[in-house]
Amino acid sequence: MILLTGGLGYIGSHTAVELAEAGYDFVIIDNLSNSKIEVKDKLEQIIGSPIKFYKGDVQNEEILTKIFTENDIDAVIHFAGYKAVGESVAKPIEYYDNNINTTLALLRVMRKFNVKNFVFSSSATVYGRAKSMPIYEDFEVSATNPYGRTKLFIEEILKDAYVADNSLNIALLRYFNPVGAHKSGLIGENPNGIPNNLMPYITRVATGKLDHLNIFGNDYPTKDGTGVRDYIHVCDLALGHVKAVKKLETAPGLVVYNLGTGTGYSVLEMVNAFNEVCGNKVKYEFAPRRPGDIDVCYACPDKAEKELGFKATRNLKDMCESSYNFEINNK
Ligand code: WQD
Repeated sequence: MILLTGGLGYIGSHTAVELAEAGYDFVIIDNLSNSKIEVKDKLEQIIGSPIKFYKGDVQNEEILTKIFTENDIDAVIHFAGYKAVGESVAKPIEYYDNNINTTLALLRVMRKFNVKNFVFSSSATVYGRAKSMPIYEDFEVSATNPYGRTKLFIEEILKDAYVADNSLNIALLRYFNPVGAHKSGLIGENPNGIPNNLMPYITRVATGKLDHLNIFGNDYPTKDGTGVRDYIHVCDLALGHVKAVKKLETAPGLVVYNLGTGTGYSVLEMVNAFNEVCGNKVKYEFAPRRPGDIDVCYACPDKAEKELGFKATRNLKDMCESSYNFEINNK
């Protein structure tokens, strides 16, 4: 059985669906700090069977011990964590406390129950301002904000944990830019308040919840002056986690993978693709660059393809259509 921490969140819930499709049993712990209990019902609708759910904080070792006592956990996929770059600059103490101490609590309880397999939700943000494109897993890592530093520090903690106990099997998955939603329209990206990320902001403009999109900077050294990112459909990303779980069953030790498509799209390309899907509902204005943004970021996805047998298949149209469909359904 697999424990999904933060399993009612955006990436976690989509991974739960793909794990169920692949025949895996799982249990979810979530403190609902950035997710909604309604997602549990939606997951049960999609999967067609009850979801085992524990409401609680991953720092609470009592709850973790209860979960590991009541369930035969073989692996943990650790999604739970704060993830807003801008918020992390304003609240570094909370970010370090939450993101690092949840991980340490998990590792202590896993050790107590002799559970060896751990998949960590890392991020391309650990590459900072990469020296060139595409980005390879052996590139230097650095961080430009507390959120990114928590990901970097946790990767280092996991590497040290592996040196201390090389019977552990650990997969560090570095996500590029997850977007899109499950085809049912029942689950998707649904951040609280005003979205930081591009796609949920676009979907709320397209559905009239926000007036227009501000495009942060059109003077970058890119094809059209706007920022370029490697957008990956969240259902492809979820499949990448299933492949990583299978990989850990082969006792590979500690492994690191980019989860991206290898193709970069600019903000304007994303807006234009979305407008083709929704009938030109996305109005936008150019605004100053957002502090901390980099101009271009996209992955070399070859290592995950070679070693995990993972390759993203969904295209920009799928990403836009599924995001739009979720936002329309998401009252
Ligand atoms: C994408 C592009 C913006 C909003 C962040 C985190 C990363 C991961 C994904 C958690 C950029 C532009 C955005 C808007 C805009 N998060 N943009 N107007 O910054 O690449 O990555 O989210 O794991 O760790 O760093 O994603 O969606 O915020 O921005 O013009 O209202 O869209 O400038 O070029 P980002 P994003």
